[in-house]
Amino acid sequence: MSKHTIAVLPGDGIGPEVIAQATRLLDLLREKRGLPLDLWHLDLGADRYLKDGTTYPKEIADRVKGEASAVLLGALGDPRVPGLEHARDILFGMRFGLDLYANVRPVKALADRLVPLKGRGRSDVDFVVFRENTEGIYVGMGGQFKRGTPDEVAISEDLNTRKGVERLIRAGFEYARAHGKKTVHMADKSNAMRHAHELWYRAFFEVAAEYPGITPKHVYVDALCLYLVQDPSPFEVVVTCNLFGDIITDLGAALQGGLGMAGSANLHASDRSRVALFEPVHGSAPPLAGKDLANPIASFLTVGMMLSHLGWPEEEQRIEAVCARAIEEKQCTRDVGGELGTRASAEWMLAEIARSL
Ligand code: NAD
Ligand code: IPM
Ligand code: MN
Repeated sequence: MSKHTIAVLPGDGIGPEVIAQATRLLDLLREKRGLPLDLWHLDLGADRYLKDGTTYPKEIADRVKGEASAVLLGALGDPRVPGLEHARDILFGMRFGLDLYANVRPVKALADRLVPLKGRGRSDVDFVVFRENTEGIYVGMGGQFKRGTPDEVAISEDLNTRKGVERLIRAGFEYARAHGKKTVHMADKSNAMRHAHELWYRAFFEVAAEYPGITPKHVYVDALCLYLVQDPSPFEVVVTCNLFGDIITDLGAALQGGLGMAGSANLHASDRSRVALFEPVHGSAPPLAGKDLANPIASFLTVGMMLSHLGWPEEEQRIEAVCARAIEEKQCTRDVGGELGTRASAEWMLAEIARSL
């Protein structure tokens, strides 16, 4: 088996705490299962930025692109950098720079008691959001005029290309086909955003025609938020734009038991041999940082997604099963009803995994 280099970027806030545990998981699987992984630790994030102004240097970006199979990122964001300059350079540097157009965010509840909806359980919460990850309002086009005056103007452009929209929608249908899903929903706001989302609407039904066994369903994003809280069970795959995907997946995380339970992958979905980025959906959670309070499960599930992507789906199943057991047996952190710290919760799961090997 050829070796895979994993660039590890712990980042800020709780990032280093959860990534320290995720790294132990990788070390365990490397040792006990012989996974051919080399970890390459990157010293980037708020501390480094505040020390010497470094955000995401071109030499590192080039090496990530040329040498790494995957990047494992904790989270970025630090109150000492209120403009988030470093976070944008690094996160968007990778998402845009590596053309990782599909941000794949599973919304899957691992236990009934984590689902906050009355009368609903884990079988009702199991869908995957495909969030467009290289366009939309995130491209940073626009500007400010007469800033700081009573006449100031601020414009953020929402960029949507046929190519970008179509490839993300296709990634959602390909996933649906590969996983035996019967429907794909597309969430937009074509009733208000007439130009951009009319393109999404048209592209969605045109791509859908290539997948005869899968029913395409259009839903306005505001209504989707309503339905997800009333009854999420009909949803299997949701494709949507960058901004809506960001918002829907925090709502989705709530259905899973919180942001401590949500992992994600950023992929160039049409060519899986290209380097991909894996990160929990959560941010740096500054109030929790340094207190051993952060839930490591999101990072464990993220490692599972990464290993599956690299060709070991059985490792993802093993990791997901142990995360579910940690919840069931309350060997977990406070946010999900346990009493353990980050480290102890991870240690319980690592011991269970070691025992199963
Ligand atoms: P957040 O995700 O950090 O926190 C939101 C809520 O979820 C908080 O109540 C927090 O305590 C809780 N939470 C998050 N992760 C948790 C975990 N592992 N275990 C237990 N509870 C957890 O979002 P925020 O507070 O809006 O943002 C904080 C910073 O993170 C900001 O700078 C933001 O821009 C950044 N951010 C970065 C990423 C990323 O790097 N991918 C993602 C989201 C937010
Ligand atoms: C996420 C985050 C980022 C985003 C922020 C930190 C820019 O919220 O990954 O969900 O909006 O994409
Ligand atoms: Mn987000």
